[in-house]
Amino acid sequence: MARKFFVGGNFKLNGTKDSIKEIVERLNTATLDPNTEVVIAPPATYLDYTVSLVKTPQVEVSAQNAYVKGSGAYTGEISVEQLKDVGAQWVLLGHSERRTIFGESDEFVAEKTKFALDSGVKVILAIGETLEERKSGITDQVNERQLSAVLKLVKDWSKIVIAYEPVWAIGTGLAATPEDAQETHANIRKFLTKELGQEVADSIRILYGGSANGKNAPTFKDKADVDGFLVGGASLKPEFVDIINSRQ
Ligand code: G3P
Repeated sequence: MARKFFVGGNFKLNGTKDSIKEIVERLNTATLDPNTEVVIAPPATYLDYTVSLVKTPQVEVSAQNAYVKGSGAYTGEISVEQLKDVGAQWVLLGHSERRTIFGESDEFVAEKTKFALDSGVKVILAIGETLEERKSGITDQVNERQLSAVLKLVKDWSKIVIAYEPVWAIGTGLAATPEDAQETHANIRKFLTKELGQEVADSIRILYGGSANGKNAPTFKDKADVDGFLVGGASLKPEFVDIINSRQ
């Protein structure tokens, strides 16, 4: 099963109109691998602005989070209906920072995933273990627990891309080795095969996230179950183009 290479850029709580303009204009003018699907996730404040700047059809825009309702008395929340209204096609859900800093449970992430999909917004679903969980040897169990909560509510996985992000590799400069990432991704796919069947499991992209950069991205090239990257810090830099082109 050929899965299209996918590179997401999670800007997190970073950027200004000027810096985002610089990033998007770099993507508009760079020679991007046409076989790579690119999604950029600016802070919500700049979603409309970012969509207005993107000129390359292969680049789509994502929110970094959204609520489990589309409208109403939910002060401060982000609506998937409004994401669509401003031209964003994706939403990142379940990022470890949402889970650990803001206390989002597996069940809440699952409810938000279902609501976003039902509202016609595609989802990058982030999962991953903490350093303590890795040291305890329960990485696979944590990933499967987080996925199981979504499997309970979501039957159609055609609009979901999974991002495996070991928490201990996020922002540390210490990426997982390609071998470790491949092993974990293969176990995720094996679990999805059991739950969804071989054909569906083989069609789902599983991204690696956690200190991916222009230098280490090519080292994941021959890892069959690493279908791309979800990039944080490096997505703000010119090397983001190198990551997009790292399968060439
Ligand atoms: O969502 C991607 C992010 O968590 C990875 O961050 O800075 O380690 O690439 P970074």
